[in-house]
Amino acid sequence: MTTSVRYERQGQVGVITVDNPPVNALSQHVRQGLLDCLAQGLADDETRALVMVGAGRTFIAGADIREFGKPLVDPDLNRVIEAYENATKPVVAAIHGTALGGGLEVALGCHYRVAVAAAKVGLPEVKLGILPGAGGTQRLPRVAGVEAAIDMITTGKFVPAGKALKLGIVDAIVDELVPGAVAFAEKLIADNAPLRRVRDMDEKVKAFDPAGFETMRKAVVKAARGQMSPVGCFDAVTASVTLPFEDGLKREREIFTGLMESDQSKALRHIFFAEREALKIPDVPSDTPTLPIRTAAIIGAGTMGGGIAMCFANAGIPVKLLEMTQDALDRGLGIISGNYANTVAKGRLTQDAMDKRMGLIEGVLDYDALSEADIIIEAVFEEMDIKKKVFAALDSVAKAGAILASNTSTLDVDEIAASTSRPEFVIGTHFFSPANVMPLLELVRGAKTSNQVIATAMKLARTIAKVPVLVGNCDGFVGNRMLEPYGQQAELMLLEGAMPAQVDGVMQRWGLAMGPFTMGDMAGLDVGWRIRKRRAATRRNDLFWPTVADQICEMGRFGQKTKAGYYLYEGGSRVPVTDPKIEQLIVEASKAAGIERREVSDEEILKRCLYALINEGAKCLEEGMAIRASDVDVIYCFGYGFPAWRGGPMFQADLIGLDKVLADIKRFHAALDDRWKPARLIETLVAEGRSFADYDRSR
Ligand code: CAA
Repeated sequence: MTTSVRYERQGQVGVITVDNPPVNALSQHVRQGLLDCLAQGLADDETRALVMVGAGRTFIAGADIREFGKPLVDPDLNRVIEAYENATKPVVAAIHGTALGGGLEVALGCHYRVAVAAAKVGLPEVKLGILPGAGGTQRLPRVAGVEAAIDMITTGKFVPAGKALKLGIVDAIVDELVPGAVAFAEKLIADNAPLRRVRDMDEKVKAFDPAGFETMRKAVVKAARGQMSPVGCFDAVTASVTLPFEDGLKREREIFTGLMESDQSKALRHIFFAEREALKIPDVPSDTPTLPIRTAAIIGAGTMGGGIAMCFANAGIPVKLLEMTQDALDRGLGIISGNYANTVAKGRLTQDAMDKRMGLIEGVLDYDALSEADIIIEAVFEEMDIKKKVFAALDSVAKAGAILASNTSTLDVDEIAASTSRPEFVIGTHFFSPANVMPLLELVRGAKTSNQVIATAMKLARTIAKVPVLVGNCDGFVGNRMLEPYGQQAELMLLEGAMPAQVDGVMQRWGLAMGPFTMGDMAGLDVGWRIRKRRAATRRNDLFWPTVADQICEMGRFGQKTKAGYYLYEGGSRVPVTDPKIEQLIVEASKAAGIERREVSDEEILKRCLYALINEGAKCLEEGMAIRASDVDVIYCFGYGFPAWRGGPMFQADLIGLDKVLADIKRFHAALDDRWKPARLIETLVAEGRSFADYDRSR
């Protein structure tokens, strides 16, 4: 008998407790323990009903993802669930925390389910590139109905207990977990309640008209944008309607096996663990004391400042927003309230919640108003001189122990810190636009930033629902630094013969949220223009520098905000429309540069864009600007619209084979220019027959 599942009796009710910290995942010993404890409960003559509960902070959070990709050791989860479903005494699942994936599937194998009000349930397997492979796609529609099941299973969303009750996923909400569940079980005994097996509950699936499946499937395929698992999930759920239960389970298994072996699932699992790994900083121990953050202040009520203020308000932290003029402040606050109003209009926020959040944001016009803030984030214009003045002013008003953060996206954090008397309290907090939406937060460590400030910023990031990655202080840090050679390749290919729509189309079809030119238009072309001007004096003059982007900016076309950039955005639309004027400009730029235009293949576009990212990512790693290759993947997937099902650029490099990637980089180096000088790290890893994943593991 394993110790991770235990059995004890409370009167007539046997309580089976899963105790496998931290999240009670269904590791092999837990599956075995569940069978053993069930046998014990069924053999115990005094026991007339059973309750299954999770120890610690949660019910079962799913299969043990660390076992994926390894040979399955018996018993398999389906066998465990069947044993519970066929038990001769009623079994009640008692849910707190989260019942996820295999956890919810186990609960659906029980005859009844109760939950505390704060609990959530979900089948998030789709996010790992698979589907609920232990009957979830057949049992959930039988309790919640087909449409609700499709929605939950194809998106992986979590459903709070109250809604789960309405949907029929749980049977009752209890105040206290174990006592409530035991009382529920005692009532079942008293009522001589039936052994209610979900597999036999056919009404909801029989009532569903499968004629609607075709249209629904099209919508799922469209929303999935190349990701296979939502479609696999959908197809499995339809089997609950079109096939008898046992055949539906077989169909589920077939699709599950295909998905589990796919590169997409490997990539999504990689990102799941990479996101959590990024929280671990080798020289900042996890028990490093943190500073309390009860109040915040933001300098600058522009797009970024406003978005950052919303992040704090959303997390319930009061935030002051500083502007230099009443007009600018009113404009900024107006945009914030407009953003919230949109969310309310879409039904994703109540008016009451919006009022509360707006109530947490206070506009101020004077630096003195920031004196009590625990963290102050500067989000002013991206110019070193301005930033330095702001930090000098902050130094004189901020209280001792306040964190002084800069939202710079490229500038030297040490130079900014040097304009204060307390560089150990200065850190870069690079948010991504729109800051209230994009999950990534690049935290930039200056030479003097203290461990306590780093630990606090990492923790704060989680509080405001961000995915933090700690990076080093270099021009562009990691994300934007990698974007530079990527953008340069895209632009060079325009001069060689491609057009923006071709380049963007290739990258988008490959899975990126948008291609480089659409992204530039969205972010504002003036941002890159300013950075290029700053770098002009120091850039290598032995390389050819394309000028199309500069020429477009000189025409006053800064992208979506000016309704024109690489593309046209007519009538305020965000849909890029090809502009013949720009195509003409590109053709003339080729001529002016003496470049004979040629057909640039889609394959070349993909390789030059992707490998530029990989090569620069490797340079960031060898210089210690990123702690691990998987951190680079997190940055790209959470901040730059890189599809998580591709696992990030470094994961892709491993998948393709680092030797193959290096061979192409060397080929580009010989045929194009020195921008393609291979990163030393890639050469070393290839010479040693290693991958980025091996490199991470060895550190
Ligand atoms: N398997 C293995 N390890 C897991 C795990 C799982 N299912 N879920 C979480 N962990 C690990 C995390 O990696 C992390 O480990 P480290 O501390 O070593 O980094 C630790 O548990 C704590 O996790 P979090 O930091 O994420 O904790 P949290 O409190 O923020 O979130 C959670 C808890 C909501 C359960 C979140 O961990 C989560 O979403 N887990 C994944 C749930 C999931 O996808 N379940 C489905 C699994 S697939 C399946 O069940 C297939 C099937 O059909 C049989």
